[in-house]
Amino acid sequence: MTSDIRVLYEQAATDWQRSEPLLLSDYTARERVFEVVGDIRGLHLWDLGCGEGYVSRRLAALGARQVDGFDLSAAMVEGAQRQAKTLEAPQGSTLRYRVADLSDPEHLPPGTCDAAVAVFLFNYLTLAATQRMLAHVHAALRPGGFFLFTVPHPALPYLRGQEPPFCFDPAGHPYLGSDDQIFEGQIWRRDGVVNPVRSRHKTLQDYFHLLAATGWQQLPQLEELGVTEAHLTLDPAFFGPLQGLPLHLLFLLRR
Ligand SMILES: C[S@@+](CC[C@H](N)C(=O)[O-])C[C@H]1O[C@@H](n2cnc3c(N)ncnc32)[C@H](O)[C@@H]1O
Repeated sequence: MTSDIRVLYEQAATDWQRSEPLLLSDYTARERVFEVVGDIRGLHLWDLGCGEGYVSRRLAALGARQVDGFDLSAAMVEGAQRQAKTLEAPQGSTLRYRVADLSDPEHLPPGTCDAAVAVFLFNYLTLAATQRMLAHVHAALRPGGFFLFTVPHPALPYLRGQEPPFCFDPAGHPYLGSDDQIFEGQIWRRDGVVNPVRSRHKTLQDYFHLLAATGWQQLPQLEELGVTEAHLTLDPAFFGPLQGLPLHLLFLLRR
């Protein structure tokens, strides 16, 4: 199954390249990620499922000392490495990328980090693989560190049809009892380009069970992200169809 995902991202790698917000989720999810991480100056972070490095670059620009990005797709990692070279390096930050299949945390290098993010990685992993990664990050984080992850909101496929600018097809599978079923989806860029995405279905309850099973003791900060007034003011035609809908979940976990 990871070979399918690799192909999906090898083919779409060029369309993921960006240096400023472009995809729907750059506005509706990633901008909130950069607020919620808080003061990360001087920290060493992991960016799990880093893609072409958009999130890593922004974390470096916020003052992270080092960001290590890991991704399944060699084409995405090459894009990240290319952009890191041309990036006007923010004061002293290092960006390093490596191809790694994170369905097995053994593919991560040994060692620890101060904090980790996984921005739309877990929707590609099975429940079992997500559990392994949650346990691994829990063990690898220094005390006081955080783990922030985002996933598509699991209710979204049941709230709207296959329409722009963001959708998943539950293909007849009900919300409950469909764990790990693959829902194909699409996400639009503001310039009209459509990127294919995928979700391995997990319910809200699944995430809480996984956290409890992997040593995360404290209640997470949980946000249901959607379109804001600012988005509607910026581009009502693009964001308007999603007004009032839950698009993504953001979890902030503290070690
Ligand atoms: C929606 S993209 C998000 C990329 C990046 N985090 C961002 O926010 O721009 C999902 C990424 O997860 C990666 N991915 C999917 N399955 C993976 C796996 N098993 N191991 C590592 N990366 C994976 C894909 O290659 C892709 O780059």
